Amino acid sequence: MKQNEKGHLITFFARQFERSKHDMDVTPFLDRESTIPLYKQLIDYFKNNMHDGALRKGMKLPSKRSLSNKLHISQTTVERCYEQLLAEGYIFSRPRSGMYVDYGAVSCLHYKGSQGVRSPKHPASTVIDFHYGHVNSEDFPLHSWKKSVSLSYDFHLDRLCKPSDEFGEHSLRSLIADYVYQARGVNTSADHVYVGSTTSYVLTLLCYVLDECQRVGFEDPGYPRSREIFTLLKKEVVPLRVDHTEGLLLGDIHSTKPDLIYVTPSHHYPLGSRMTLQKRVELLQSAEDVGAYIIEDDYDSEFHYTTEPLPSLHALAKRDNLIYMGTFSRSFLPSLRLSYMILPKSLLPRMQKLTLLYKQTVSSSQQLALADFMERREWTIHLNKMRTMYTKKKTVLLNELKHSFGDTIHIHGHLAGPRVLIDVLLDKGEKQLIEEADAAGVKVYPTSHAYLSDTPPATLQLGFSGLTIEDIQNGIQLLKEAWVR
Ligand SMILES: Cc1ncc(COP(=O)(O)O)c(C=O)c1O
Repeated sequence: MKQNEKGHLITFFARQFERSKHDMDVTPFLDRESTIPLYKQLIDYFKNNMHDGALRKGMKLPSKRSLSNKLHISQTTVERCYEQLLAEGYIFSRPRSGMYVDYGAVSCLHYKGSQGVRSPKHPASTVIDFHYGHVNSEDFPLHSWKKSVSLSYDFHLDRLCKPSDEFGEHSLRSLIADYVYQARGVNTSADHVYVGSTTSYVLTLLCYVLDECQRVGFEDPGYPRSREIFTLLKKEVVPLRVDHTEGLLLGDIHSTKPDLIYVTPSHHYPLGSRMTLQKRVELLQSAEDVGAYIIEDDYDSEFHYTTEPLPSLHALAKRDNLIYMGTFSRSFLPSLRLSYMILPKSLLPRMQKLTLLYKQTVSSSQQLALADFMERREWTIHLNKMRTMYTKKKTVLLNELKHSFGDTIHIHGHLAGPRVLIDVLLDKGEKQLIEEADAAGVKVYPTSHAYLSDTPPATLQLGFSGLTIEDIQNGIQLLKEAWVR
């Protein structure tokens, strides 16, 4: 066991012990109309909670007085209940201290562990997870991030004692505006930047703002979470076909006439292709022809390996019809849940009104910490480091795949982002491949859920950002054993 794991366990046990010294707070529902006496209802409540594991061995029961006060019942009722539980061995009495749960063959800590955690199919150590949304903790700039978090409290405590600006902390919005200008050519200012918790949430708010837009042109295949959100909000989703060679088929925009178009031009989800400059200009023109807004989802454009990223659609747009979306989930930390969008001037008043209702959803301390992190240039350093690291990991993954599978797979979608796609030519379907991988302790991910129309027979996504180089090598070896027997 690693030293810091031991440390965590010691702290965990100490906390459990500390908790057990205090009376637990319970809120049983007692039915005063029932023919079952109250003390019996109380007994049932305690027993059920002990069986369920909510009340665990060593926990201290409320005193007779506090429970009778809380529930407005007599102390005698509580006393009868405790006596019965004592007699049946469910609780024990500690002189001058109180009553404690005595139920459970093993100690409460073990009990919680075995009840609270579902037993994994494989021991955790053998699961190699090729999820493209994970970040490897070894790559995370823990030291400098902790410094930023701490500084956010040291310097902004007054600020943190009041609610955040509805659009997010101004300093962060200003730094995001600078960043998207430098990295993506998005010419904007802090006033146009809205910070929100996750792309899905930001998109939901945008749907309310664009209430009049009912027909959404959506890439097929495309990002299923966003598509589901449109459907949930009762928008009509019309597929815009994405061809392997040609990319987005613009003719579909003219034939379906959507009033809102959602695209991932810089790194198509899931195919991994990117829209040419020519196609971007044509897309803007097509949207203008049919009078549609465009949502540009630029979720992982930080990671382009072989070529410079092309300017964003926003940078090329002339009209006030484009909403740009970005996130720190891929480039920094998925659990931060910090995403943003850049709105055209015409939509700002409606968004301002809406945010008075919803308020800001990302913790101000995390926003201010991120602002500090960006201001101290740690963000730029981190991005450069991650680009180098991901290039290395991707090279290892490609080599391992080629070496292990040769012509039995076709690799694509690897020019950007922390994942690659493989078409598996082994006469097995997507589901079978995923299940066989799972049984060998490896997680790989489908693409079929991204399609509205025909799905490819067996194309899988393999992300590498959450893994070490050694994990990648072991993972591909295990996949080979699982698939090519
Ligand atoms: C196409 C696409 N857009 C956006 C996101 C980011 O989502 P979030 O900001 O909720 O992490 C992802 C992440 O997986 C994605 O694949």
